[in-house]
Amino acid sequence: MGTIKACIFDLDGVVVDTAKYHYKAWKKLGAELGFDFTLEDNERLKGVSRMDSLNILLEIGKITLTQDEKEFYADKKNNWYKAFIEQMQPDEVLPGAEAFFKAIKNDGYKMALGSASKNAVPILEKTNLLHWFDAVIDGTKTQTAKPNPEVFLLGAKALGFTPAECVVFEDAEAGVEAAINAGMKCVGIGSPKLLAKANLVIEGLHQMTLDKLKHI
Ligand code: G6P
Ligand code: MG
Repeated sequence: MGTIKACIFDLDGVVVDTAKYHYKAWKKLGAELGFDFTLEDNERLKGVSRMDSLNILLEIGKITLTQDEKEFYADKKNNWYKAFIEQMQPDEVLPGAEAFFKAIKNDGYKMALGSASKNAVPILEKTNLLHWFDAVIDGTKTQTAKPNPEVFLLGAKALGFTPAECVVFEDAEAGVEAAINAGMKCVGIGSPKLLAKANLVIEGLHQMTLDKLKHI
């Protein structure tokens, strides 16, 4: 084993395809507030916390709300989102994720989750993935949002490794920046243009191999 000893995975868009459910719920909220929320707008919400996402949505709809109203609508969106994830099946795990987990575990690497979501544990339970993770750092354990490195630093600490021993897997620009700010290597999942700061960009975990991990 080389320098890298652990992998820290973002959840939404890396391990599971939940972005579509976030989008559906935000779109429903936009409609209720009287405006259209597009798929393009949704890109801005990837990796962004629930309240920050609501603020972006309101900016797009040119709507001003009080803090109490914001809490009300953020809750409303989350309840719709929870109803979607309640129906999730293990086959909604993204291609290649479990094969890669198996490969790294067999090779002695440790694994942590590093997600902004407060719904991460129920999602991992629904999809039968929780057992893979040696540590789970989610939105219930962090004070600051990506690109702040807090979530990944807590992940490394929970696993007992230094940042230089960890690689982060991220699909959001803010997430790639958080990994860099943490002093970790990063594999971007998605657009090479958007995620240009990552050490390596792949389309999905199905393209990831132990060999790529060792040479990052
Ligand atoms: C992830 C997703 C975001 C989501 C955030 C908070 O970072 O990419 O779209 O807003 O988690 O999720 P939550 O489940 O706590 O609302
Ligand atoms: Mg993500």
